[in-house]
Amino acid sequence: MDCCTPGDSPFDRQFDARHAARHLRAYREKGAVGLTRALVESLAEGGIGGQSVLEIGGGVGAVHHDLLRSGAATAVDVDASRAYVAVARGEAERQGHADRVRYVIGDFVTLADEIEPADLVALDRVVCCYRDMAALVGRSASLARRRYGLVYPRDSWLGRAGTVLLNLELWLSRSPFRVYAHRTDDVEAILAAHGLVKRLSRTTLVWQLAVYERPSA
Ligand SMILES: C[S@@+](CC[C@H](N)C(=O)[O-])C[C@H]1O[C@@H](n2cnc3c(N)ncnc32)[C@H](O)[C@@H]1O
Repeated sequence: MDCCTPGDSPFDRQFDARHAARHLRAYREKGAVGLTRALVESLAEGGIGGQSVLEIGGGVGAVHHDLLRSGAATAVDVDASRAYVAVARGEAERQGHADRVRYVIGDFVTLADEIEPADLVALDRVVCCYRDMAALVGRSASLARRRYGLVYPRDSWLGRAGTVLLNLELWLSRSPFRVYAHRTDDVEAILAAHGLVKRLSRTTLVWQLAVYERPSA
């Protein structure tokens, strides 16, 4: 999905206000769970006092909210969904750190030149929403000064079958949004080419978490 003009993009239609409100309720009830929680813990390991965060496709913002509460100084969240950004901003106000977050609405790949490098970069369940994985992963990796973490579907028959079924459902409902099963080898090769070294990986039935470090940092 190489879009998008904020307002009526496939992302706005897929990740709308109803979707965002439901997700926010879950986050307020349980906090970050599963691989999202593991992603936050791994990015924060050893202390992140004073560090900067770039979250791409933050949704309600679980990762940047939790990293700010763990000591990070500032965060930028770039999300193509207006509804999600509105909810993430409201949650930042509720948690008392809105003055330390900059919210940017739009496609990260087209906006990447305007985004400053950050110590910690996170993409939680975002790579599977975007056709041009090489641009999304490559451009975001180039902005990671210290650590880079992502959650994306496992490279398995189950993941590929899920993608086909979900896209069928989206097509039947006339949605322009699509999901993508990118190959793990391709993602890993791009991150390695950007000088990042894997420090942690975890899997569930469908998803995988991988956290990388820049050795020179
Ligand atoms: C499945 S949601 C995940 C939200 C959140 N990270 C989570 O795990 O709950 C995917 C999010 O990524 C955003 N997104 C996908 N591709 C993007 C891109 N190229 N630039 C900015 N945001 C993007 C969507 O708008 C949406 O908010």
